Amino acid sequence: MIWLWLARLLGAASSPIVAATGANAAAPGPAETYALPRSRREQARLELQHFALRQLLGTHFLAPIEQPGAILDVGSGTGVWLREAARRWPRAQLVALDKDLTLLRQPLPPHCQPVQADLLTGLPFAEARFDYVHQRFLATAIPVTAWPGILDDLLRITRPGGWLELVEATGDTGNEGPLHRQVRTWFTTLLERRGLRLDAALNLPHWLQERGLQPQILRFQMPLFGRRRGAPLFREDVLSALQALESQLAAVNHIPREQIAATLTALPREWERLRTSSGGIAVWGRKP
Ligand SMILES: C[S@@+](CC[C@H](N)C(=O)[O-])C[C@H]1O[C@@H](n2cnc3c(N)ncnc32)[C@H](O)[C@@H]1O
Repeated sequence: MIWLWLARLLGAASSPIVAATGANAAAPGPAETYALPRSRREQARLELQHFALRQLLGTHFLAPIEQPGAILDVGSGTGVWLREAARRWPRAQLVALDKDLTLLRQPLPPHCQPVQADLLTGLPFAEARFDYVHQRFLATAIPVTAWPGILDDLLRITRPGGWLELVEATGDTGNEGPLHRQVRTWFTTLLERRGLRLDAALNLPHWLQERGLQPQILRFQMPLFGRRRGAPLFREDVLSALQALESQLAAVNHIPREQIAATLTALPREWERLRTSSGGIAVWGRKP
């Protein structure tokens, strides 16, 4: 099964994709808002998360798109979503945009093009260029004050009648235990240092309404217990992300890294006992 293979890969692969040229070429630099690494292990985590979401939501495409001519995936990571879209719409032109293309698995299919650009400094596309703009899990990269400007830019490049689709974590927890609360507090401190808030995505419906869209909204819970609805994959996904952040969590919270590691080791048992889940939101709407 694909998820077993991915989980093994996640366990085994921790080396960076590119040879390190500096002290730690795979880790984000100090000026970088985005906190997660760009390593082989992170590639595997993102792909695992992609398949987990499919198990939970039943689809990778929530907006009711029929025959889009041009599709953009913003913050495309490994390109796993873009490849899926490329298979579904073989006649469309697809663009994978990321600030850093290290994670992107190459080569892409011939009708897909990678573009390296920073979402925070403006998207390098003409107005009304795309029929379908997709962006997933960028809340750990977009400062809360930057979101309104980013949405303006995403809508600028969407054609009237085209669709914008956003999928994000929301930071809320179902059946939260003390260990999870502790880790969430550590993580929140790390994000706040970078001007980020995981719950920023809860404003998306309102922000899209303000811009004249009538968004569809799906709130979902990613299960961290049991074996159904992608739970084994979500467990690996969350643990892998937190383990990758261990040293940063220790530094910003002024606690020993060993304490973080021990807490993460104990976390799955608490998730199982309390039946914990982690919140997310999908919002999609048509540009008037
Ligand atoms: C959590 S990953 C999500 C990847 C992909 N959307 C997915 O769901 O698998 C975030 C991605 O956004 C990219 N990213 C971070 N900051 C960015 C920025 N300012 N502009 C463009 N991409 C950015 C990262 O390089 C990374 O590939």
